[in-house]
Amino acid sequence: MPSTNQVILNAPLDMHLHLRDGEMLDNIVNGSAHTFSGAIIMPNLVPPVTTKEAVIAYKERIMHAIGDEKFTPYMTLFFKPSYDKAFLESVRDDITALKLYPAGITTNSEGGVSGFDVEELRPALSAMSELNLPLCVHGETNGFVMDREAEFVSIYEELAAAFPDLKIIMEHITTKESVAALDKFKNLYATITIHHLLITLDDVAGGMLQPHLFCKPIAKRPEDREALLKVALAAHPKVMFGSDSAPHPKHAKESCGCAAGVFTAPVALQLLTELFEKNDASLENLQAFVSGNAQHIYGVTPLSKTVTLEKKPFKIPSDYNGVVPMYANEEIAYSIQEVKNG
Ligand code: DOR
Ligand code: ZN
Repeated sequence: MPSTNQVILNAPLDMHLHLRDGEMLDNIVNGSAHTFSGAIIMPNLVPPVTTKEAVIAYKERIMHAIGDEKFTPYMTLFFKPSYDKAFLESVRDDITALKLYPAGITTNSEGGVSGFDVEELRPALSAMSELNLPLCVHGETNGFVMDREAEFVSIYEELAAAFPDLKIIMEHITTKESVAALDKFKNLYATITIHHLLITLDDVAGGMLQPHLFCKPIAKRPEDREALLKVALAAHPKVMFGSDSAPHPKHAKESCGCAAGVFTAPVALQLLTELFEKNDASLENLQAFVSGNAQHIYGVTPLSKTVTLEKKPFKIPSDYNGVVPMYANEEIAYSIQEVKNG
């Protein structure tokens, strides 16, 4: 992208977002709802979203918190191997996907899947495949922290081969191994965050520990980031932007026992634009990465929204209603100039 004073993005989509609930939802939702047309909403609440009633009620709370902004929350259900076809059919129209967490792997995932026995998962995954419901997966084993995602790739491949018509989204990929898996199976897709495109483990723990950059999966090695950058900047058709913006109260991050999650939603488009410009990637690719690819992969048509960014230094606030964003207090190159709905 040549250096430019203005960048216009149409209908940006965030295909992996934590909006939380209650006061936190009220405090942070506008950081997404103002600039994005829609987002895939993660179900890892306490308790997790596992019933039709819970999905509908959570969506209502989100719509209430959004107020006048134009924004579509694409809802997800927390995957349980016990879901049968009748249940999935009954909830089909209320959700866009299901999210599978390995048990205990990250925030509020205790009720997830333990052991990956394809036969145990077959009834639920076959039904999802027939109903054209994508499976979003947090792909980490409980191995050594730097190896968890690479170790999970064989599980992705086993699932992709066993359920060839099931769309499987490898969420927030961080490794070259996951990037390589994309081209091996037609039904494997991926989301990529802005923080994993910008940082490596060195930024988290190479100097003074940076709690606001600590997340799951943890940022990896430079060669992993290079592999992610390559597919994101080229807008590989099987990758899409998913922020994994995961707000936690300041005291839960700046504490002994730091919660995992990077809060990026309100600064994600500015950082993405700067990144694409710095790497001389085209505006067309940025548009595909933040919207077009997701529309094709999920078959969604977002609300129209035009976001104009201008090349004007923007000092990221120290916090948004008490939640510290990525790169708080630092200056970045782009700011949001205008958002037009409709
Ligand atoms: O860092 C993370 N935070 N990774 C996840 O998978 C969950 C998320 C959260 O909900 O806080
Ligand atoms: Zn997440």
